[in-house]
Amino acid sequence: MGLKYGAGMTLEDCLEKLSQQFEEADLFYGHGTDNSWDEAVYLVFCALGLSFEEDDTIMSRPVTQKEVSLVESLARRRIEEYVPVAYLVGEAWFAGLPFKVDSRVLIPRSPIAELILEQFAGLLPAQPHRILDLCTGSGCIGIACALAFPDTFVDLADISLGALTLASENAARHDSQDRICVIHSDLFNGVQGTYDLIVTNPPYVSKEEVDALPQEYRHEPELGLVSEEEGLKIPLQILREAPNYLTSDGILVMEVGHSWEALAARLPQVPFLWLEFANGGEGVCMLTARQLREVHAQLV
Ligand SMILES: C[S@@+](CC[C@H](N)C(=O)[O-])C[C@H]1O[C@@H](n2cnc3c(N)ncnc32)[C@H](O)[C@@H]1O
Repeated sequence: MGLKYGAGMTLEDCLEKLSQQFEEADLFYGHGTDNSWDEAVYLVFCALGLSFEEDDTIMSRPVTQKEVSLVESLARRRIEEYVPVAYLVGEAWFAGLPFKVDSRVLIPRSPIAELILEQFAGLLPAQPHRILDLCTGSGCIGIACALAFPDTFVDLADISLGALTLASENAARHDSQDRICVIHSDLFNGVQGTYDLIVTNPPYVSKEEVDALPQEYRHEPELGLVSEEEGLKIPLQILREAPNYLTSDGILVMEVGHSWEALAARLPQVPFLWLEFANGGEGVCMLTARQLREVHAQLV
């Protein structure tokens, strides 16, 4: 018989109980954490408005009956409805920054965060003047870029008006709205001019693969995940159109995740540079504008 929720329990008791419940449930981790304890900490700290910066003495803090009830109700939705914690608490972290999230956007998790924190070292020839975050969702990639490059103008483009509303709120939250423009666009059709960097995490999963994913993914917008032609339709269109929107020294950084092998096999003539990540993740390529222009005729 494990711990029971109740008045008089400490924060540590509450976390142990919740982590034990998560352990016994058939949950998938992959939207911010990879184990039951971290998942419990994520839920409880955010739900109770506690800072992750607190020292260990916070663990002996008593949890009130009202707080216990809140944790129990969120835990029920996590376990019975498989709602990811990010949606339950409305918050996710990307490149060390908090972003508001809800079911209008994918939960940020792209390995591109690592590139942003390193300011695309070794990839960009100079500080970029303009960056486009295509398929921006919550705006996490573009907003993190705006903060990494304080003199750069960033456009956030997405086909989903709901996602763009949230992206605008996130830009304001990070006080970067004066350098950020939100654009409603079906891929490139709403954007203008050229960019030194186009960075994109587009949909790249086939419908069949999405249907086979763990239940947690059903809470994410299908528009953010699914691409036709076995996941490759949207990435292929980006490769075809990107050269028209890149400066002569510009680069494209695009994530295609596990679809990278299929894309590389389909386009053996394209000199993709597949990037490596210290913190995990795969399937992010870099191509220069020059390389894209050289192979353009073969992509049409
Ligand atoms: C994989 S999510 C990425 C979100 C965000 N960049 C991130 O890394 O968390 C893909 C995004 O592409 C958007 N999208 C899908 N089709 C699109 C299209 N044709 N044009 C522009 N955006 C599109 C979706 O609305 C979704 O927000």
